[in-house]
This record gives sequence, structure tokens and C-alpha cells, in this order.
Amino acid sequence: MLRKAFLMLCAAGALSANSAKAQYTINADKVKAQISPNMYGIFFEDINLAADGGVYAELVKNRSFEFNMPLMGWDEQKKDGGDGRVEVINRATERPENAHFIKVYIDSATGSFGLSNEGFRGMGIKAGEEYSFSVMAKQEGDQNVKLNIELHDDKNAIIGKAELTPTDKEWNRYSVKFNASATVQKAQLYVWMSGKGIIDLDMVSLFPEHTWKNRPGGLRADLVQKLADMKPGFLRFPGGCIVEGRELNTRYQWKKTIGAIDERTNIINRWNTEFSHRLTPDYYQTFGLGFMEYFMTAEDIGASPLPILNCGMACEFNTAELVPMDKLDPYIQDALDLIEFANGDATTKWGKLRTELGHPAPFHLKMLGVGNEQWGPQYIERWKAFTKAIKGKYPDVKIVSAVGPFPGGKEFDLLNKTFRALGADILDEHYYASPKWFLEHAKRYDNYDRKGPKIFAGEYAAQNVVTGSPKNKNTWECALAEAAFMTGLERNADVVRMASYAPLFAHVEGWQWTPDLIWFDNLNSYGSPNYYVQQLFSLNKGTDVVPLLLNDQAVAGQDGCYATASLDKNTNELVIKFVNSTASAKSTSFKITGSKGYQKTARVITLRSDDKDAVNSLETPTAISPVSSNLTVSGTTLKLDVEPYTFKIVRLKNK
Ligand code: AHR
Repeated sequence: MLRKAFLMLCAAGALSANSAKAQYTINADKVKAQISPNMYGIFFEDINLAADGGVYAELVKNRSFEFNMPLMGWDEQKKDGGDGRVEVINRATERPENAHFIKVYIDSATGSFGLSNEGFRGMGIKAGEEYSFSVMAKQEGDQNVKLNIELHDDKNAIIGKAELTPTDKEWNRYSVKFNASATVQKAQLYVWMSGKGIIDLDMVSLFPEHTWKNRPGGLRADLVQKLADMKPGFLRFPGGCIVEGRELNTRYQWKKTIGAIDERTNIINRWNTEFSHRLTPDYYQTFGLGFMEYFMTAEDIGASPLPILNCGMACEFNTAELVPMDKLDPYIQDALDLIEFANGDATTKWGKLRTELGHPAPFHLKMLGVGNEQWGPQYIERWKAFTKAIKGKYPDVKIVSAVGPFPGGKEFDLLNKTFRALGADILDEHYYASPKWFLEHAKRYDNYDRKGPKIFAGEYAAQNVVTGSPKNKNTWECALAEAAFMTGLERNADVVRMASYAPLFAHVEGWQWTPDLIWFDNLNSYGSPNYYVQQLFSLNKGTDVVPLLLNDQAVAGQDGCYATASLDKNTNELVIKFVNSTASAKSTSFKITGSKGYQKTARVITLRSDDKDAVNSLETPTAISPVSSNLTVSGTTLKLDVEPYTFKIVRLKNK
């Protein structure tokens, strides 16, 4: 018995001694696959206050009184003996796209009556920055009602103010700019009205002047910058389940999200009621971030646009409503029109509209998603109709097809088999699973059919508790498991052409789903460890995969290690990515053939923590973030020590 235990110990010792001296080989002149320039991208969905209350920089919540409770977010205020009342008017017959406005009666000649707006969990205001208040207004009485605009901090002190007197008896837009004197996380906007009379108000809005590219009514600069810093290959929008809607009525309809913002029909956000443990009754979609803004953002950050459209199916986790096949045409037409909107010139109907909206140049749309996470024969039927029409008119546009919400099982198998037989372009696979699953599936694509459809790993994130649990965190364990898995995506870059983590954004007080790539409050934001994994893969993807082997095998979990290598033909470098998912350090050696040798100093980027449960936060935003160092290379042998729980990238420059 003792002898058996001794032998087992020896065997274990031999194993770790072997692994401690693991000899990896890289054949630097044997290109196995080309890495798509679009490989690592972004999945955007308006979930967790990502758009309204997040990247869309509007500070006023329910600016046009279109929430189901039209005064949600607003409170009546009175001062100095002022008095009045508010009526909510529904003009749906005249303006169905913007049915509500308010009629305010100022009953007292002295003092002020007003309304305050609480913003999205408050309004983030920065000292010294300029803000632009605007409103659609119409004077109704004989006397003009004057507006006094104030920003209050959380102790009710005034930190910015302006005056405005609308003069017209017809609807008109008025605006005024002012500076803020303090930085406040949770400010409120007060709109005081004085002078006895009646005034109609709509589209009450407050924006920072400083937005992404300083576009008026634009996007939060710090958040878009985080996207730009990823140098993403594509931007998938607008979701996610939001494409589908809980019911068809609340599906995403791109045509309703372009043009004048007061003509974009607001609807409830499907995440408002999705999770009973994270109800968000004030979550609506104004579509201030609409398709034009998505396309422009993609262009700004150098990402290929990848819109996903509803295919006549509401979310199958919810109502699963279907449009009958003989009523599908308008949905298909939306897809055809979108391609024309993105790519057509000014002689086409939709290209002309894009030009009129200020963008004569095309957006170079090359891919389009038909449906989000659909499944079942009902999807196949609708997919066929979409595909026939799109390919008939635009044969070069690649269609992204769903294969259900899970990476395997009955729904996946049916779609995978059917779409392969039908010669689909790109299959959109989703996996939300445990870190263990990610580690165990690093070889998922090693045996995929090389001649079949390409793969878009369209949504993935490791879940440290269980998918959907509000206790999930963006731990280092999750990020490291994703890095390990992603070495498998890259090794199979001939099949896997695109990948994106999901969801993207979350407001620390307004989220419904966790984990998420980037977290923010009203003033600041930080990238999770998962963000840095995605960013490092993107910035160091290289152009061509070359074999990195251990004993002639792909490195996909032996002794807890995962690795891939690529050439970067643009910079003339060999890029090695190595993940040590274990608690013990690894001493590795790489024997590189097919190269004339490397410059003596290689660049190393390390992302790591000793604590698998560690997270980043608003207080410690870069606790886990990349650290650069140098390493000396001798000839074509590289010795690399890899600490426990570490993702390392080494860039060797050819001589
Ligand atoms: O990313 C959150 C949700 O997960 C997406 O909306 C959906 O596509 C998936 O089920």
C-alpha cells in the first residue's frame, strides 16, 4: 500500500517536473490560417442602462413624457408662493410617434412653479463643463411664461443656472447653455416657470457639450473611448434580445430610430420587466442612440458595422410571437432598405436619406444578422425567405444566422445541421457558461468543418455563479477562462472569423444582467478584467496563425496551460499568447523554427492576479490591467516564466 502511494507520488512529481520544463515548438513559417481583421469586436445592446442612462449622454429621464406613467422621473416643485398644475396631453391622432406633451398652468403671478427631473439615478455633472438645456415649447396664454433652469446638487445647492423665455405660440425649440460650478454624481434639473400663464412643453433635454467628438446631443466620451481603445473589428448592434422584443410590438425597428429625435417613437425597454430580481420600471428606449448613431460610431472607431434585424419573431424566452409567413414582407423589406440606407448612393431612396442626414459616404455594410437567438423550424422558414430576398438583391452581403441561445443541444443541432446543408455564410454561436466550461472547450473548433460556414462567437461570458444570477461577478477567474478559450478561437481563425463578449455596458446602479464588460456610474467608468482580455486579444491578434505545439498537440489545457501563436505581418513580429490557469508557476521554453532569428529584446504584456476572485471596481479600476515588460531572447529559443493565474503575451520582432 505504502509502496503504491510512493509510486503515485513519484508519478505526480515526474509529471510536474515534466511540465515545469514544458518544451513548446513554434513553426514560424507555416501559416495555418489568416486571422480576420474583424476578429475581435463589440456586442452592443441597450441592457443595464447601456444606451439611455449610459452611453447616450442625455441627462433627462423621460424627456418627452412617453413612459407608461408620463410623469415618471418628474416632480412638481413650488417656491416663494408660486403655484400651478400640470396636465398630460395625448395627441396620438396627430403625432402617434410622439403622443405626449405637458401643459403647465402657472396660477400665481408671484413665485415660481416648476418641475424637477431626477435623471438616470441622478445626473452626473462636472465642474467647469458646459451644458446645453433645450426644450420644445409653445406659449398658450396672453403672457409669456419664463423658464429658469437650475442644476441642484444632492444637498439642493444650485450648481448651474440659465434663463429662457419661449416666445412663440407655435411649437418651437429653444436652447441655452451654461456652466456647472461643481462635480456632482447625482444632480437634479429644475425647470422653474414664472409669470401667470400657460405653456406647453415637450422634449425637455440636458446634454453635456463635451460628448464623443463633441457632437451635439451625442454620446458619453469616456464610454466610447473605452470602445475605441479596444480597436474593435466590428460593432454588432442593437442587441441581443432587444432586437426581438418581448412581443413583436416592442421589437427593434430601425426606421423608427433615425431622423429628428422628437420623431423617434419611444418604447419600453424589454429589460424593464425581464428579471423580477432586477426590475427596472424606468427603463425605456428613446432611440436617441439610433441606427445612424450606431453606424457613425462604428465608423469612428474603425469597426465594421454588423446590424442584427428582427426576422418576424419575438423573443422565444418570452412571448415567442410569430409574424405569419404571408405577412413577413415588410420585415424583409426593412432588411433590404437597411442595406440601401448603409451602402446606397444619393440616387437611391434610402441612400438619399442617409445623405440628407449628413452622411453622403456609404457605411460599407458587409454583414447583416437575420434574427438574434432564434430557434426551431419557424426560424428556418423565415430565415429562408430573408436569405432568398437579401442574396437575390445583394449577393455579397454576408448573412449572420442564429443557432439558438446555447452552444449545443436539440435547438443548436437542428440549426447547425440545417444551415450547414443550406450553405449559410456565418453562424452566430452563444455561450454563457461556467469558467470550467470555457477551460474544457478550448478545443471546440479544432475539428469543425473547414469548408462549412464561418463562425461568429457572437455572445460569450464566463459566469462564476450561474447564468442569470445577480451574484455573478467579473472575476479574474472568469476573465482568465475566457482568455484560455479564446486561444482556441484564434488557433481556429480560419473557421472562427469574429468574436465578442456580452453584454458590453452596465450602470453600477441600473443593471439587470451581470457580468458585463464595462461598468460605469454617472461620472466614471472602468473596464473589467474581461475587458482587458478582450482588448489584449484585439490589439495583439496578428495576421496569420502559426502552429504552437506541445508534443505535436495544440496547447489546450495540458497542465492547465493554453497557448496560440500568430505572425503580425504588419509589424514583422511573432506574437505568442499563453494562459496559465493554475495556481503554480510554469517555467516554459519555446523552440522556434522557420525564422532567421529575433531581436534581442521582446515585449511582454502580463495580465494577472494571485486572487482568482479579484475584480476591478470604480475605486480600483485598474487593479487587474496589463503590465508591460521586456524579455531577452537568445537566438530562436525563448524561455518564459509564467506566474500562477496569468495571461501573457510575448511579441518578438524579426531581425
Ligand atoms: O447578453 C444578454 C442577452 O443574452 C442577450 O440579449 C441575448 O442575446 C442573450 O440571451
